[in-house]
Amino acid sequence: MNKNDIISRIIKLKEKHNAIILAHNYQIPEVQDIADFAGDSLGLAIKATETNAKVIVFCGVDFMAESAKILNPEKIVIHPDKKAQCPMAAMVDVESLGWVKEKNPRAVVVAYVNTTADVKAQTDICCTSSNAVKVIKSVKEKDIIFIPDTNLGLYVKRFIHNKNLILWPGICPTHHKIQKEEILKIKEKHPKAEILVHPECRPEVIDIADHVFSTQGMVNYVPKADSKEFIIGTERELCYRLKKENSTKTFYSLKTAICPNMKKITLQKVLKSMESLEPKISLSEEIIQMAKKPLQRMIDIGRGD
Ligand code: 13P
Ligand code: SF4
Repeated sequence: MNKNDIISRIIKLKEKHNAIILAHNYQIPEVQDIADFAGDSLGLAIKATETNAKVIVFCGVDFMAESAKILNPEKIVIHPDKKAQCPMAAMVDVESLGWVKEKNPRAVVVAYVNTTADVKAQTDICCTSSNAVKVIKSVKEKDIIFIPDTNLGLYVKRFIHNKNLILWPGICPTHHKIQKEEILKIKEKHPKAEILVHPECRPEVIDIADHVFSTQGMVNYVPKADSKEFIIGTERELCYRLKKENSTKTFYSLKTAICPNMKKITLQKVLKSMESLEPKISLSEEIIQMAKKPLQRMIDIGRGD
């Protein structure tokens, strides 16, 4: 089947099942293009709470599709490739979190949404890259266990001085690999380019950035900015959306910034999953109930960037 046939089959199946396709900003271009909505983790979670569709086809990594299910237990949530998993989310598990909680009995647990549903169920409030500072400011307690991204935790610490943030030794392999030298080399060639980076980057990369944003934060900022050129310090596929929405501006992506898991979802897999309504996200009633509280608390706080 050629690409156009696949797309028209997907469109027909969308109508048949009353389905909505949600895609993260790192998805391959063809998948972004057939999505009803593309966004960052927070935007996608909010969209999942707003839709009247009966079926959500979630093009992103595992924890994002799980969040959509937690927020919509009555809907069918399909994840076209279950192997599309976030390695950072896999860096924290219930048992080791339990051990750290035991050592810090008074601490509140703030979970980056990049965590599995069973881990979220053991936490107090979630955050995303767009609202981590706002969420942590909203916590009254002094001691906070922040899981699992050390780099995001170190970024938050720059703005919050009256809390004791206990950081988890997790990182995003894609963002942690980004080196300031690579960015500075591009800057040397294009001195007028503004440097935008994701808060999952290392502290020395954050230090040289003009702005630090979630992926949607970058999408929102670029059209308002006076600059015509930008160095994009996050997964390189974001540049596809930036270019599509800002055709007169130039974007320099980083060669090594690729999240292989985000690339596992293809148009063919989207079609196959919509034909069979499989694989579905399935979570126990108990986990859904427990994980919904921290997610809903975060959604109520809203966007920070
Ligand atoms: P955003 O919420 O900024 O899109 O980030 C999600 C993510 O996984 C970044 O690596
Ligand atoms: Fe996870 Fe990093 Fe990929 Fe985001 S870019 S999904 S944090 S591995």
